[in-house]
Amino acid sequence: MKTVIYPGSFDPFTNGHLDLVERARCLFDKVVVAVAVNSGKNPLFTLEERRQLIVESCTDMPNVEVIAFEGLLVNAVKELKADAILRGLRAFSDFEYELQMALMNRELLKGCETIFLTPQLENSYVSSTLIKEVARLGADFAAHVPPPVARALSRRRNLL
Ligand code: PNS
Repeated sequence: MKTVIYPGSFDPFTNGHLDLVERARCLFDKVVVAVAVNSGKNPLFTLEERRQLIVESCTDMPNVEVIAFEGLLVNAVKELKADAILRGLRAFSDFEYELQMALMNRELLKGCETIFLTPQLENSYVSSTLIKEVARLGADFAAHVPPPVARALSRRRNLL
């Protein structure tokens, strides 16, 4: 039974994230999407809201579980006995940060590997930050997020 953990802030979960989950669930027996507290950021959605929106976006995926975690990612990896960490690589600009995290996580937990998947091209320019900016400025963002997220973001637009 091979398990991969897919961590992130997911504020909010986008079609790019969903694309990665769909790819990973074909490669692993179980995908655990792990929503981070990420105290350095000031999220639009609470931890539980972000977790719930992912649950609602992945309803038809029986081998996908969604959790929230606080503290070090490697502790969640240990607890879940995950075989690898999954992260998305959209563009070359993602690479440096991702490389640093992958190396640090492997130093913190011996044998902890990170694998990278790329979304399809139409999802490769989508980021949570860009979605929030587009929403704040009044443009249509619904094509880039799962329907539950689109509804929640429409309701929360006034806080952006
Ligand atoms: O979606 P993001 O914001 O790029 O995700 C970053 C995340 C949550 C994966 C990263 O900040 C993280 O792993 N946070 C947990 C704390 C931790 O383990 N930090 C050291 C990482 S090397």
